[in-house]
Amino acid sequence: MIAVQHLSMRLTAAGRPVTILDDVTLEIPSKQTVAVMGPSGSGKSTLLGLMAGLDRPTAGAITLDGTEITSLSESRMAKFRRAKIGYIFQSFHLIPTLTALENVLVPLELSGNAAAKDQAIELLQTVGLGNRLDHYPVQLSGGEQQRVAVARAFACRPPILLADEPTGNLDSQTGHRIMDLVLALHRDYGTTLVLVTHDRAIASLMHRVIALRDGRIESDEILPRTEPGESAS
Ligand SMILES: Nc1ncnc2c1ncn2[C@@H]1O[C@H](COP(=O)(O)OP(=O)(O)OP(=O)(O)O)[C@@H](O)[C@H]1O
Ligand SMILES: [Mg+2]
Repeated sequence: MIAVQHLSMRLTAAGRPVTILDDVTLEIPSKQTVAVMGPSGSGKSTLLGLMAGLDRPTAGAITLDGTEITSLSESRMAKFRRAKIGYIFQSFHLIPTLTALENVLVPLELSGNAAAKDQAIELLQTVGLGNRLDHYPVQLSGGEQQRVAVARAFACRPPILLADEPTGNLDSQTGHRIMDLVLALHRDYGTTLVLVTHDRAIASLMHRVIALRDGRIESDEILPRTEPGESAS
């Protein structure tokens, strides 16, 4: 479960105080799939980054599967993140000097997984890139890079997957392939999924839709469907 309590993020930019998140409280049960929506600048990426412990809030607490992460040291947070969280960045964030296979291997090797290479190859085959293992990011299309990023985020089979507009830069067909993949991972492994999107059709595939506005929760709605991935009829 992800529990966010009274989370605020206030910064100073150009000498002025800026409130990016303002007293956000929400609970996401294990295995739930959640879309986070809202206008540009409403705080979606900030919220996701805080949930992943990539940044520290100015107030509030975040508890992931019983561990309060905002007070963890940098190194304990890194270890916790490797075990628990897969993160898909909107801009892919692949390491340019590593091949597709090596990019997926990074989290596996960090976690000391002996069968890492076989597992990384299998993951890349799952995302349809078995024939691109030795390609560098510049030799891959945007959709292919995003699929490598999905494989990497999922390499350690994290119980929580956080995805920041994973289909934002892709054509709709490639976007659907990425979503099918993410939802299959959720179905097969019961992954809790929090996904930022501007796309209503993608949001409608989730159990729940949370909308942010000006750093606050504007609406929080459970969608009338039992299984994510089923189309509404
Ligand atoms: N380091 C920072 N210093 C000052 N302001 C920041 C900083 N980081 C983000 N912001 C501001 O916080 C607000 C929320 O940013 P955030 O990236 O969370 O928005 P978002 O909802 O993800 O938007 P988008 O849909 O465009 O990705 C924005 O107005 C942004 O300018
Ligand atoms: Mg964003």
